[in-house]
Amino acid sequence: MCGIVGYVGTKDAAPLIVDGLRKLEYRGYDSAGVAVHAGKGIEIVRALGKLVNLSVALEKHPLLGTTGIGHTRWATHGRPSEINAHPHASGPVAVVHNGIIENHVALRLELEGLGVRFLSDTDTEIVAHLVARELAVAPGKVSLFVAAQAALRRVVGAYAIAVVSKDEPDVIVVARSGSPLVVGLGQGETLCGSDIPALLAHTRDVVFLEDGDVAELRASGVRIETVAGEAVTRPVKHIDWSHVQAERGGYKHFMLKEIHEQPEVVEATLRGRIDLAEGDVYAGEMGVPPEVARTIQRVYFVACGTSHHAAIAGRYWVEQLAKVPAVVELASEVRYRDPIFFPTDLVVAISQSGETADTMAAVKSAKAAGARILALSNVVDSAIPRSADGALYTHAGPEIGVASTKCFTTQLAALLLLAVYLGRRRETLPKERAQAVLQALWETPALMREVLGDADYMHLIAKRIAKATDVLFLGRGLGFPIALEGALKLKEISYAHAEGYAAGEMKHGPIALIDERMPIVVVCPKDAQYDKTFSNIQEVCAREGQVIAIATRGDEQMLEVAQHIVWIPAARDEVLPLLTVLPCQLLSYFVASLKGNDVDQPRNLAKTVTVE
Ligand code: F6R
Repeated sequence: MCGIVGYVGTKDAAPLIVDGLRKLEYRGYDSAGVAVHAGKGIEIVRALGKLVNLSVALEKHPLLGTTGIGHTRWATHGRPSEINAHPHASGPVAVVHNGIIENHVALRLELEGLGVRFLSDTDTEIVAHLVARELAVAPGKVSLFVAAQAALRRVVGAYAIAVVSKDEPDVIVVARSGSPLVVGLGQGETLCGSDIPALLAHTRDVVFLEDGDVAELRASGVRIETVAGEAVTRPVKHIDWSHVQAERGGYKHFMLKEIHEQPEVVEATLRGRIDLAEGDVYAGEMGVPPEVARTIQRVYFVACGTSHHAAIAGRYWVEQLAKVPAVVELASEVRYRDPIFFPTDLVVAISQSGETADTMAAVKSAKAAGARILALSNVVDSAIPRSADGALYTHAGPEIGVASTKCFTTQLAALLLLAVYLGRRRETLPKERAQAVLQALWETPALMREVLGDADYMHLIAKRIAKATDVLFLGRGLGFPIALEGALKLKEISYAHAEGYAAGEMKHGPIALIDERMPIVVVCPKDAQYDKTFSNIQEVCAREGQVIAIATRGDEQMLEVAQHIVWIPAARDEVLPLLTVLPCQLLSYFVASLKGNDVDQPRNLAKTVTVE
């Protein structure tokens, strides 16, 4: 996720800003840049790659001044490159931005129509041009603060921005809507940052901006108004976290932080991609041209591990909504068979890292057979998207915990969008059903927040099962990939043996394992498969297994059979996996944490598997 740092005071801004950016490195980035008011105007230095490259560039071109902004970029619109690195400039202003501007296509077209020439592929550059144009309405008469407010009234989406102007050397204007931004109040200096660690070397007194706030930062302090121009006050908070705690946002582990980030990153993955009025998904965002969507004869998913579990859900959605035959293959197996691909296949390679060697090898086989490749990845321009015909990106931001959590739920969200998109192009999905699915998906982050609000209960259940050496996870339909994912998470970080099974398969073998010592997590929300899964629960109970049910709030009969029930809110069947997986992630996390395991870096595992 992008990182923002700003400084206005009496010290040399550039080194302080680079130092602040270094404190945000854990957020991940592909390029970086700084803009400083250097007396006569704003000067910008940017570099692709690590911050050391920016430092080298700054040695060659020192920026001297006491007001400046800096940025580390995690690409979302436009590939990682120096040209796309922030800050972006227009006339007297320079801007850094974190987030996604939903109406970027319309605004860019409008600005191009007015003769604006864009230098980058980013959505951010739009903000620079909008602010510059507001300033140009009455040169010298409009403040940067007012111009930024007016510009932001045109912007739809999520953003945290910081802007400086040649004409106001002692001011930084910042704003937030949906992306984090904190203001730090020092002695004769004011800072801003995407996250607390960027500020801790200078101050522990901070103001958390709220959505819709625009703030004017001067060395003497901060003044805040809403985008609409109404004055507001926000409390000053004193932070006593250590640096390490601050990096994890106060959570004990990155994995727990990432579990709790899921509503936000699912929102980011959906943002700007859904047309609720038309019940459709914007073609430009999907990586599959409409004519290809109409003519493919099969969707062939390849992926490994957690991404493979997302693929199983993807197959259900593609079959149900787009009525295209779909298969799912473990990428690590594809190359050892003689897989049969056709030029009329859409091969969807799912890989959060975009670098997994087995998935890459499967893509090569499919390409050789002339199939069309769509990469679904979290890392813009990584190896798999680069070798694909198109890419659909999730916007989870970098995932630091080795066990994947937020990348999984964003993959689910992106796959459901893909299924709706294919269904609409192929006319297999009526507008009304598409509208209902997309509406439900859009509302899902709020329901995810509700489920995560009950994390303490999962801690309690984790205490009860922490000593279990074997745990069974069962699920049916869209609950099946969640059972697989729940078992994988538990194995990976708690080192307990866990099996994920299709509930209907229980009778064909695993039922022999069940006794009073065996915890069985059953994914059993009120969906189309509910009655069948419920009867599996009764079979488990008859053998004295301990049932932990993930069930829909209000399901009274569940109270009679399950030892523990984790309630999730009622929702449409299609979006349930985004909810039912959350208790599974929390359960694994708490079991591993109770055992004192290294949750973020479990033994023997690597975040990106680049060997076959
Ligand atoms: C599990 C996990 C792994 C990855 C797998 C594929 O928590 O993270 O199973 O899902 O190694 O990785 P990507 O998605 O990067 O191809």
